Amino acid sequence: MLTVRGLRKEFPTRSGPLEVLRGIDFDLARGEAVAVMGPSGSGKSTLLHIVGTLDRPTSGTVRLEDIDPFQLPEPELAAFRNRRIGFVFQDHYLLPQCSVLENVLIPTLVGPARVEREKRARYLLERVGLAHRLRHRPSELSGGERQRVAVARALINQPGLLLADEPTGNLDRRSAQAVAALLLELAAQENAILITVTHSLELARSFPRQMQMLDGTLAPLVLSSAQEASPCT
Ligand SMILES: Nc1ncnc2c1ncn2[C@@H]1O[C@H](COP(=O)(O)OP(=O)(O)OP(=O)(O)O)[C@@H](O)[C@H]1O
Ligand SMILES: [Mg+2]
Repeated sequence: MLTVRGLRKEFPTRSGPLEVLRGIDFDLARGEAVAVMGPSGSGKSTLLHIVGTLDRPTSGTVRLEDIDPFQLPEPELAAFRNRRIGFVFQDHYLLPQCSVLENVLIPTLVGPARVEREKRARYLLERVGLAHRLRHRPSELSGGERQRVAVARALINQPGLLLADEPTGNLDRRSAQAVAALLLELAAQENAILITVTHSLELARSFPRQMQMLDGTLAPLVLSSAQEASPCT
């Protein structure tokens, strides 16, 4: 369970504090998936960073599986993030000198026995359709393939929470659909919570639930039939 209450975030700027999140509340249970939309600069990445414990809120709380990560000392917070949260960003952030298999194994360097880790990495790479690319370097993959490696890497430690910030922003429509479908399918199968930020109405529509960030608050997004019929997604 992910519980977010009264989340606020201000950034200090030269012209005074910039209030980006103005009180966000939501709950997501294991296995739930939500797409978050909203204008550029509305605070979507800021929210994901805080929920992902990469940044701290100005006030408010985040609880994941009944743990308030911001109460943990820094080394424990890092371990919590590594074990319980998976990230997929717009850029893949794969290490260019490492193979596909090695990239997926990177978050497990402090994890269980090597044989088990490698078994899971191979399984996930098979699930994302890359069993035939284990020894390739990222530069030898297509953009869609790189993002599929990033999805496998995000899931390697069986996180309860999977966060994706415009994971298909750099992809063509077909690769984008494939990556979005994999995120949904694997998160459901692993019983993880999935939060995906996207500018694509088409992608958002493929999610069971949608929310919109507007003026620093998050509200359910009702997709009207007019929006659904729009050719400009
Ligand atoms: N470290 C920071 N210091 C000051 N302002 C920041 C900082 N990070 C983000 N902001 C501001 O906070 C606002 C929200 O930024 P954020 O990146 O969360 O937007 P977003 O909704 O993800 O936008 P996009 O769709 O373009 O990715 C923006 O106005 C941005 O300029
Ligand atoms: Mg963003």
